Amino acid sequence: MSSIEEGYFTEETSADVVIGRNAKARDARLAEALAPLIRHLHAAVKEIEPTQEEWFSAIQFLTATGHTCTDWRQEFILLSDVMGISMLVDAINNRKPSGASESTVLGPFHLPDAPELPLGSDICLDQKGEPMVIRGRILGIDGQPVAGAKIDVWQANDEGFYDVQQKGIQPDFNLRGVFRTNAAGEYWFKGVKPKFYPIPQDGPVGTLLNALGRHPYRPAHLHYIVSAEGFQTLTTHIFDPDDPYINSDAVFGVKASLMARFQRIDDAAEQAANGYDRPFFKVVHDFVLAPAA
Ligand code: BEZ
Ligand code: FE
Repeated sequence: MSSIEEGYFTEETSADVVIGRNAKARDARLAEALAPLIRHLHAAVKEIEPTQEEWFSAIQFLTATGHTCTDWRQEFILLSDVMGISMLVDAINNRKPSGASESTVLGPFHLPDAPELPLGSDICLDQKGEPMVIRGRILGIDGQPVAGAKIDVWQANDEGFYDVQQKGIQPDFNLRGVFRTNAAGEYWFKGVKPKFYPIPQDGPVGTLLNALGRHPYRPAHLHYIVSAEGFQTLTTHIFDPDDPYINSDAVFGVKASLMARFQRIDDAAEQAANGYDRPFFKVVHDFVLAPAA
Protein backbone atom coordinates (compact mmCIF):
# COMPACT_ATOMS: atom_id res chain seq x y z
CA MET A 1 0.00 0.00 0.00
CA SER A 2 1.43 3.41 -0.93
CA SER A 3 1.58 6.22 1.65
CA ILE A 4 -1.12 8.03 -0.34
CA GLU A 5 -3.44 4.97 -0.15
CA GLU A 6 -2.65 4.65 3.56
CA GLY A 7 -3.68 8.27 3.94
CA TYR A 8 -0.59 9.12 5.98
CA PHE A 9 0.66 12.66 5.57
CA THR A 10 4.24 13.57 4.65
CA GLU A 11 5.69 16.85 3.49
CA GLU A 12 6.39 15.31 0.07
CA THR A 13 2.97 13.71 -0.50
CA SER A 14 0.81 16.31 1.29
CA ALA A 15 -1.28 17.50 -1.68
CA ASP A 16 -1.90 13.98 -3.07
CA VAL A 17 -2.98 12.69 0.34
CA VAL A 18 -5.53 15.48 0.78
CA ILE A 19 -6.81 15.24 -2.80
CA GLY A 20 -7.05 11.44 -2.43
CA ARG A 21 -9.23 11.87 0.66
CA ASN A 22 -11.76 13.75 -1.50
CA ALA A 23 -12.02 10.91 -4.05
CA LYS A 24 -15.57 9.95 -3.06
CA ALA A 25 -16.93 13.51 -3.13
CA ARG A 26 -20.71 13.66 -3.63
CA ASP A 27 -20.19 16.87 -5.60
CA ALA A 28 -17.80 15.92 -8.44
CA ARG A 29 -17.34 19.53 -9.61
CA LEU A 30 -16.39 20.57 -6.07
CA ALA A 31 -13.69 17.89 -5.94
CA GLU A 32 -12.54 18.83 -9.44
CA ALA A 33 -12.23 22.50 -8.41
CA LEU A 34 -10.55 21.74 -5.08
CA ALA A 35 -7.85 19.43 -6.48
CA PRO A 36 -5.85 22.15 -8.30
CA LEU A 37 -6.56 24.58 -5.46
CA ILE A 38 -5.09 22.15 -2.92
CA ARG A 39 -2.16 21.35 -5.21
CA HIS A 40 -1.31 25.04 -5.78
CA LEU A 41 -1.86 25.99 -2.13
CA HIS A 42 0.40 23.21 -0.89
CA ALA A 43 3.02 24.20 -3.48
CA ALA A 44 2.77 27.84 -2.31
CA VAL A 45 3.16 26.86 1.35
CA LYS A 46 6.20 24.73 0.45
CA GLU A 47 7.71 27.66 -1.43
CA ILE A 48 6.93 30.24 1.27
CA GLU A 49 7.75 28.02 4.28
CA PRO A 50 5.74 30.25 6.64
CA THR A 51 6.46 30.30 10.35
CA GLN A 52 3.54 29.32 12.60
CA GLU A 53 3.16 33.04 13.46
CA GLU A 54 3.04 34.05 9.78
CA TRP A 55 0.42 31.39 9.03
CA PHE A 56 -1.64 32.55 11.99
CA SER A 57 -1.48 36.16 10.79
CA ALA A 58 -2.80 34.97 7.39
CA ILE A 59 -5.67 33.24 9.21
CA GLN A 60 -6.30 36.41 11.22
CA PHE A 61 -6.41 38.43 8.00
CA LEU A 62 -9.08 36.11 6.53
CA THR A 63 -11.00 36.20 9.81
CA ALA A 64 -10.98 40.02 9.77
CA THR A 65 -12.07 39.95 6.12
CA GLY A 66 -15.08 37.83 7.08
CA HIS A 67 -15.90 40.05 10.06
CA THR A 68 -15.92 43.11 7.78
CA CYS A 69 -18.63 41.62 5.53
CA THR A 70 -22.18 42.88 6.02
CA ASP A 71 -25.29 42.90 3.84
CA TRP A 72 -23.88 45.91 1.99
CA ARG A 73 -20.11 45.43 2.35
CA GLN A 74 -18.43 42.41 0.77
CA GLU A 75 -14.78 42.44 1.77
CA PHE A 76 -14.06 39.03 0.18
CA ILE A 77 -15.16 40.37 -3.23
CA LEU A 78 -12.88 43.33 -2.66
CA LEU A 79 -10.04 40.91 -1.87
CA SER A 80 -10.82 39.01 -5.09
CA ASP A 81 -10.83 42.36 -6.94
CA VAL A 82 -7.44 43.59 -5.70
CA MET A 83 -5.87 40.16 -6.34
CA GLY A 84 -7.03 40.32 -9.98
CA ILE A 85 -9.22 37.23 -9.54
CA SER A 86 -12.50 39.04 -10.31
CA MET A 87 -11.09 40.28 -13.61
CA LEU A 88 -9.71 36.84 -14.46
CA VAL A 89 -13.09 35.16 -13.84
CA ASP A 90 -14.70 37.94 -15.90
CA ALA A 91 -12.24 37.37 -18.77
CA ILE A 92 -12.80 33.58 -18.77
CA ASN A 93 -16.57 34.02 -18.85
CA ASN A 94 -16.69 36.82 -21.40
CA ARG A 95 -14.58 35.74 -24.36
CA LYS A 96 -16.11 37.86 -27.11
CA PRO A 97 -16.09 37.53 -30.89
CA SER A 98 -13.95 40.00 -32.81
CA GLY A 99 -15.47 43.48 -32.91
CA ALA A 100 -17.64 43.09 -29.79
CA SER A 101 -17.11 45.49 -26.88
CA GLU A 102 -15.10 44.06 -24.01
CA SER A 103 -16.42 43.53 -20.50
CA THR A 104 -14.96 44.53 -17.17
CA VAL A 105 -15.66 44.07 -13.48
CA LEU A 106 -19.21 44.73 -12.17
CA GLY A 107 -18.12 46.16 -8.81
CA PRO A 108 -20.21 46.21 -5.65
CA PHE A 109 -22.27 49.35 -6.26
CA HIS A 110 -24.82 48.28 -8.88
CA LEU A 111 -28.49 48.51 -7.85
CA PRO A 112 -30.94 46.29 -9.71
CA ASP A 113 -33.87 48.69 -9.28
CA ALA A 114 -32.58 52.02 -10.67
CA PRO A 115 -35.34 54.08 -12.32
CA GLU A 116 -36.00 53.82 -16.07
CA LEU A 117 -35.68 57.34 -17.47
CA PRO A 118 -36.46 59.07 -20.79
CA LEU A 119 -33.49 59.52 -23.13
CA GLY A 120 -31.70 62.79 -22.37
CA SER A 121 -32.44 62.73 -18.61
CA ASP A 122 -29.85 64.12 -16.21
CA ILE A 123 -28.91 61.42 -13.68
CA CYS A 124 -26.89 63.90 -11.58
CA LEU A 125 -29.28 64.78 -8.76
CA ASP A 126 -26.79 66.49 -6.41
CA GLN A 127 -25.72 69.22 -8.87
CA LYS A 128 -22.05 68.66 -8.01
CA GLY A 129 -19.15 68.51 -10.44
CA GLU A 130 -18.61 69.27 -14.11
CA PRO A 131 -21.61 68.44 -16.30
CA MET A 132 -21.29 65.81 -18.99
CA VAL A 133 -23.39 64.67 -21.94
CA ILE A 134 -22.93 61.09 -23.11
CA ARG A 135 -24.31 59.61 -26.26
CA GLY A 136 -23.69 56.78 -28.64
CA ARG A 137 -25.21 53.75 -30.30
CA ILE A 138 -25.70 50.12 -29.44
CA LEU A 139 -24.76 47.94 -32.40
CA GLY A 140 -24.50 44.27 -33.29
CA ILE A 141 -21.19 42.93 -34.63
CA ASP A 142 -22.75 43.26 -38.10
CA GLY A 143 -22.88 47.05 -37.51
CA GLN A 144 -26.68 47.10 -37.36
CA PRO A 145 -28.24 49.32 -34.65
CA VAL A 146 -30.01 47.57 -31.78
CA ALA A 147 -33.32 49.28 -31.01
CA GLY A 148 -34.84 48.94 -27.53
CA ALA A 149 -31.53 47.89 -25.89
CA LYS A 150 -31.53 48.43 -22.13
CA ILE A 151 -28.67 50.58 -20.82
CA ASP A 152 -28.18 50.55 -17.05
CA VAL A 153 -25.62 53.18 -15.97
CA TRP A 154 -24.16 54.23 -12.64
CA GLN A 155 -21.28 56.35 -11.49
CA ALA A 156 -19.71 57.92 -8.39
CA ASN A 157 -20.40 61.57 -7.62
CA ASP A 158 -17.92 64.42 -7.84
CA GLU A 159 -16.59 63.55 -4.38
CA GLY A 160 -15.88 59.95 -5.36
CA PHE A 161 -18.78 58.21 -3.59
CA TYR A 162 -21.71 56.19 -4.89
CA ASP A 163 -25.16 57.09 -3.52
CA VAL A 164 -25.28 53.77 -1.61
CA GLN A 165 -22.11 54.75 0.26
CA GLN A 166 -23.69 58.04 1.37
CA LYS A 167 -27.27 57.21 2.25
CA GLY A 168 -28.99 60.33 3.58
CA ILE A 169 -26.22 62.55 2.16
CA GLN A 170 -26.75 61.96 -1.57
CA PRO A 171 -30.26 61.73 -3.04
CA ASP A 172 -31.39 58.12 -3.55
CA PHE A 173 -30.52 56.89 -7.06
CA ASN A 174 -28.13 59.79 -7.59
CA LEU A 175 -26.12 59.14 -10.76
CA ARG A 176 -28.03 56.03 -11.79
CA GLY A 177 -30.51 55.40 -14.55
CA VAL A 178 -31.85 52.90 -17.02
CA PHE A 179 -32.35 53.99 -20.62
CA ARG A 180 -33.65 52.32 -23.80
CA THR A 181 -32.16 52.94 -27.23
CA ASN A 182 -34.38 54.51 -29.89
CA ALA A 183 -35.18 52.98 -33.29
CA ALA A 184 -31.73 54.02 -34.56
CA GLY A 185 -30.02 52.25 -31.65
CA GLU A 186 -29.08 55.60 -30.08
CA TYR A 187 -28.86 56.54 -26.41
CA TRP A 188 -28.04 59.81 -24.68
CA PHE A 189 -28.17 61.16 -21.15
CA LYS A 190 -26.51 63.66 -18.85
CA GLY A 191 -24.28 62.94 -15.88
CA VAL A 192 -21.15 64.35 -14.30
CA LYS A 193 -17.54 64.03 -15.44
CA PRO A 194 -16.27 61.08 -13.38
CA LYS A 195 -13.22 61.37 -11.11
CA PHE A 196 -10.90 58.76 -9.71
CA TYR A 197 -11.95 57.43 -6.31
CA PRO A 198 -10.65 54.96 -3.71
CA ILE A 199 -12.18 51.54 -3.22
CA PRO A 200 -13.24 51.06 0.44
CA GLN A 201 -9.96 51.17 2.37
CA ASP A 202 -11.08 51.10 6.01
CA GLY A 203 -11.00 47.28 6.20
CA PRO A 204 -8.40 44.50 5.96
CA VAL A 205 -8.13 44.86 2.17
CA GLY A 206 -7.16 48.54 2.62
CA THR A 207 -4.55 47.46 5.19
CA LEU A 208 -3.25 44.84 2.74
CA LEU A 209 -2.94 47.37 -0.11
CA ASN A 210 -1.12 49.75 2.22
CA ALA A 211 1.31 47.02 3.33
CA LEU A 212 1.96 46.21 -0.33
CA GLY A 213 2.68 49.86 -1.15
CA ARG A 214 -0.35 49.95 -3.44
CA HIS A 215 -2.82 52.84 -3.73
CA PRO A 216 -6.59 52.14 -3.49
CA TYR A 217 -7.71 54.23 -6.49
CA ARG A 218 -9.83 53.37 -9.49
CA PRO A 219 -9.40 55.66 -12.51
CA ALA A 220 -12.41 57.76 -13.50
CA HIS A 221 -15.10 55.61 -15.12
CA LEU A 222 -18.76 55.11 -15.81
CA HIS A 223 -20.43 51.72 -15.35
CA TYR A 224 -22.70 50.20 -17.99
CA ILE A 225 -24.76 47.04 -18.26
CA VAL A 226 -26.13 46.79 -21.80
CA SER A 227 -28.68 44.09 -22.59
CA ALA A 228 -30.93 43.30 -25.53
CA GLU A 229 -32.86 40.29 -26.73
CA GLY A 230 -30.73 38.00 -28.91
CA PHE A 231 -27.44 39.42 -27.55
CA GLN A 232 -25.05 38.62 -24.70
CA THR A 233 -25.38 41.06 -21.81
CA LEU A 234 -22.38 43.37 -21.62
CA THR A 235 -21.12 44.54 -18.21
CA THR A 236 -18.48 47.15 -18.77
CA HIS A 237 -17.11 50.67 -18.11
CA ILE A 238 -15.84 53.58 -20.10
CA PHE A 239 -12.64 55.15 -18.76
CA ASP A 240 -11.00 58.55 -18.97
CA PRO A 241 -7.62 57.90 -20.64
CA ASP A 242 -6.18 61.09 -19.05
CA ASP A 243 -6.79 59.87 -15.50
CA PRO A 244 -3.64 59.71 -13.32
CA TYR A 245 -4.50 56.13 -12.26
CA ILE A 246 -5.37 54.80 -15.72
CA ASN A 247 -2.34 52.44 -15.69
CA SER A 248 -2.68 51.30 -12.08
CA ASP A 249 -6.38 50.59 -11.43
CA ALA A 250 -6.60 49.03 -7.93
CA VAL A 251 -8.85 46.26 -9.32
CA PHE A 252 -7.25 45.80 -12.79
CA GLY A 253 -10.47 46.72 -14.63
CA VAL A 254 -8.92 48.87 -17.37
CA LYS A 255 -8.66 47.60 -20.96
CA ALA A 256 -7.34 49.60 -23.92
CA SER A 257 -10.64 49.21 -25.78
CA LEU A 258 -12.64 50.80 -22.95
CA MET A 259 -11.14 54.28 -23.27
CA ALA A 260 -13.58 57.05 -24.15
CA ARG A 261 -12.89 60.63 -25.18
CA PHE A 262 -14.01 63.24 -22.64
CA GLN A 263 -14.11 66.40 -24.74
CA ARG A 264 -14.44 69.75 -22.92
CA ILE A 265 -16.85 72.05 -24.77
CA ASP A 266 -16.08 75.75 -24.35
CA ASP A 267 -18.20 76.94 -27.27
CA ALA A 268 -21.13 79.01 -25.91
CA ALA A 269 -23.52 78.01 -28.73
CA GLU A 270 -22.90 74.29 -28.18
CA GLN A 271 -23.25 74.80 -24.42
CA ALA A 272 -26.62 76.52 -24.94
CA ALA A 273 -27.77 73.82 -27.36
CA ASN A 274 -27.17 71.27 -24.59
CA GLY A 275 -28.90 73.35 -21.90
CA TYR A 276 -25.73 74.70 -20.24
CA ASP A 277 -24.30 78.17 -19.64
CA ARG A 278 -20.85 76.87 -18.70
CA PRO A 279 -18.30 74.42 -20.08
CA PHE A 280 -19.37 70.79 -20.17
CA PHE A 281 -17.84 67.50 -21.24
CA LYS A 282 -19.06 65.56 -24.24
CA VAL A 283 -18.55 61.82 -24.63
CA VAL A 284 -19.60 59.86 -27.71
CA HIS A 285 -19.25 56.12 -27.25
CA ASP A 286 -20.76 53.16 -29.09
CA PHE A 287 -21.02 49.62 -27.72
CA VAL A 288 -21.05 46.49 -29.86
CA LEU A 289 -22.94 43.48 -28.51
CA ALA A 290 -22.00 39.89 -29.21
CA PRO A 291 -24.83 37.63 -30.40
CA ALA A 292 -26.36 35.32 -27.78
CA ALA A 293 -24.61 31.96 -27.67
C1 BEZ B 1 -16.44 50.02 -8.75
O1 BEZ B 1 -15.97 50.43 -9.79
O2 BEZ B 1 -17.54 50.46 -8.44
C2 BEZ B 1 -15.67 49.05 -7.90
C3 BEZ B 1 -15.17 47.90 -8.46
C4 BEZ B 1 -14.46 47.02 -7.67
C5 BEZ B 1 -14.26 47.29 -6.32
C6 BEZ B 1 -14.77 48.46 -5.77
C7 BEZ B 1 -15.48 49.35 -6.58
FE1 FE C 1 -17.03 52.29 -10.01
